[in-house]
Amino acid sequence: MTQQRPYIDTHQEQDDTNHSNNAHFSEVLQVRLSRRKTVLGGVSATAALMLGSLTGCSSSSDDDVTPVAPELKLGFTPVAKNLNDVVTVPTGYEVAVVYALGDALNTTTSAWANDGSESAESYEFRAGDHHDGMSFFGLGSDGKWSPNTSDKGLLCLNHENITSAFLHTAAPSMVDGKRPIDEALKEINCHGVSVVAINRQTNGSFAVDKVNTLNRRITPNTVMEFHGAAAASRFLVTKYDAKAKKGRGTLNNCANGYTPWGTYLTCEENWAGYFKRPSTDDSLRSSAELASLKRYGVTSSTGANSWSTASDSDDRFTRWNATILDAAKTADTDFRNEPNTFGWIVEIDPFNSSNAPRKRTALGRFAHEGCVIAPVKVGKPVVFYMGDDSRGEYVYKFVSAKVWEAADATGGLTAGDKYMNDGKLYVAKFNADGTGKWLELSFGVNGLVADNAIYPFTSQAAVVVNARLAADSVGATKMDRPEWTAVHPKTGEVYLTLTNNSNRGTSYPVDAANPRNYTDEDGKKGKGNPNGHIIRWKEKDSEHSAAAFTWDVYVFAAEEDADKSKINVSNLTSVNDMSSPDGLWFDPRGVLWIQTDDGAYTDVTNCMMLAAVTGKVGDGAKTTIDGQDTFKGKNPTEENLRRFLVGPKECEITGVTMTPDNKAIFVNIQHPGEDGNLTSISSNWPDVANPTVVNANKTARPRSATIVIYRKDGKEIAV
Ligand code: FEO
Ligand code: CA
Ligand code: CA
Ligand code: CA
Repeated sequence: MTQQRPYIDTHQEQDDTNHSNNAHFSEVLQVRLSRRKTVLGGVSATAALMLGSLTGCSSSSDDDVTPVAPELKLGFTPVAKNLNDVVTVPTGYEVAVVYALGDALNTTTSAWANDGSESAESYEFRAGDHHDGMSFFGLGSDGKWSPNTSDKGLLCLNHENITSAFLHTAAPSMVDGKRPIDEALKEINCHGVSVVAINRQTNGSFAVDKVNTLNRRITPNTVMEFHGAAAASRFLVTKYDAKAKKGRGTLNNCANGYTPWGTYLTCEENWAGYFKRPSTDDSLRSSAELASLKRYGVTSSTGANSWSTASDSDDRFTRWNATILDAAKTADTDFRNEPNTFGWIVEIDPFNSSNAPRKRTALGRFAHEGCVIAPVKVGKPVVFYMGDDSRGEYVYKFVSAKVWEAADATGGLTAGDKYMNDGKLYVAKFNADGTGKWLELSFGVNGLVADNAIYPFTSQAAVVVNARLAADSVGATKMDRPEWTAVHPKTGEVYLTLTNNSNRGTSYPVDAANPRNYTDEDGKKGKGNPNGHIIRWKEKDSEHSAAAFTWDVYVFAAEEDADKSKINVSNLTSVNDMSSPDGLWFDPRGVLWIQTDDGAYTDVTNCMMLAAVTGKVGDGAKTTIDGQDTFKGKNPTEENLRRFLVGPKECEITGVTMTPDNKAIFVNIQHPGEDGNLTSISSNWPDVANPTVVNANKTARPRSATIVIYRKDGKEIAV
């Protein structure tokens, strides 16, 4: 018997699991805000310096011979909001599809057939689904990283999730309570990462180089090594490796990062829901284990996609059942600890396909969105910024113990071992006075000890595996779903998307850093903070390893016609209004790219990407929104924030990278047509001759895809 199975959308963030009692901003509002003037008083007076740094001018007056770089300015015609089933880009720009779901990575794998006939195993050589975070690495003729090469490169990209409705010959099925093995394995293999070589074409577009031996799929079944604090600890013991040094695969890879030593970082986000662990397992767990499992949301009665049902003996499937099978037996006899093997930052060397990826456990375990490294300086630690995307979760940073040495720029995973296995993890507290603090998450520090009331922290392994609980304990600030971080290449200021939070104002009272609680005016998305905002901070003395910072809100996302007193407080217009910012990246010139993953403004427009030339922390003022004090940057204008792209129907725009010559920008279109199914296809993108033309073939299944955008005149993107 075959039955239709509803598509389980693990892409959506999980129910918030942060029920900790640590302080909300509302409790510290009494703090007098006047101190802000002292902290930031000099900033507005230094507007000229700010401009200097933004334009690339030297702000040091003793350097008269520095050539004046042209002012960074957006130079494209803004794209209008729309609901078309196409990718819309500015006049004078071209779009091409480079790498879509099911596309072959070699010459022996067949082309996508649009009928679900591709085998599960073939996805080890095909593009996975739900393209997300992505980086371009220039590829030299010697097969090594060539940071300034633009015509040939390796694209590394994440396959976050699946739209299972379009993967099989028919709808996903259950037969006698079991997922068919072929279906489950295909869905598993459609997750993970792609490394794909691409070559520039004569017209400026790019195409996959199918004969390149560096082409590679990494899936949830690829062997991985654990490194850092949790490696070889009891938390990672499974039937697969009793020594807890190895695990399998990476899962729900959302945003990304890239290192100054030429490796790719992929980040494991909503992994918890894939595991089956019904409440009957609770009585078999210690109180510490239960605290951990519940804080991370490992509480599904079936596991998303029910992969564990596919076999009773093949551990490619049984591993998705995190239930203790026999309480009398040890953890190396089942997969009770398998959820602990996910939730990490994973480092991949794209230029060496035989190396196992390394899970960098020192950076903490949570629903990782991205991992962005501040520009490195010789003699200074390497600093990583990371968001934990769920309602009321936190922002983290990791500061390496070792300081940067230029010789490590070609170090690959060995450099990763040096800078990512040993260091200190911190979590952010945003104060009501516009300052903030980084709270250290180290065993034995800040109460992270065995008799801690929240969790018995007995080692640094216990801290990193339970980073959320450690962060609860030290009193971090509960944010509106921290998504991507981005560091301005010239000012060093850090930007963070807070995509939305339906529980702001209820479970999570408003505070200075998450100040809005309102009702979406057309009622599409309810209350709280439906449209999100982008916060930013400047580290003390501009040192990324600093323990303190000052912050403000760069922009509050909103619909253009929303109430300007409490919703559209950044005064956005038709040229730059947006909802639910998620993807965020500064290109090397300092252009900020903002991508949306929205469900609140989708009655008016599909998701989009905007470009911005930003100001600086403190260029605005203290303000009050509906009774809540906050700090807001100078409002963006149509000149310095404008829409660059609108995607096809029901997609999310996520993942962005460029060639070093700034003449090609790659963007991922994730889950077009995600609300449809085989009997009701709602998007046919991208299977059309021209991805900017509405498809006449209404039977084409929608596919996530990487696109490249370039200019007809061959000049740089966006300026
Ligand atoms: Fe996968 Fe938080 O977006
Ligand atoms: Ca995202
Ligand atoms: Ca998102
Ligand atoms: Ca709306």
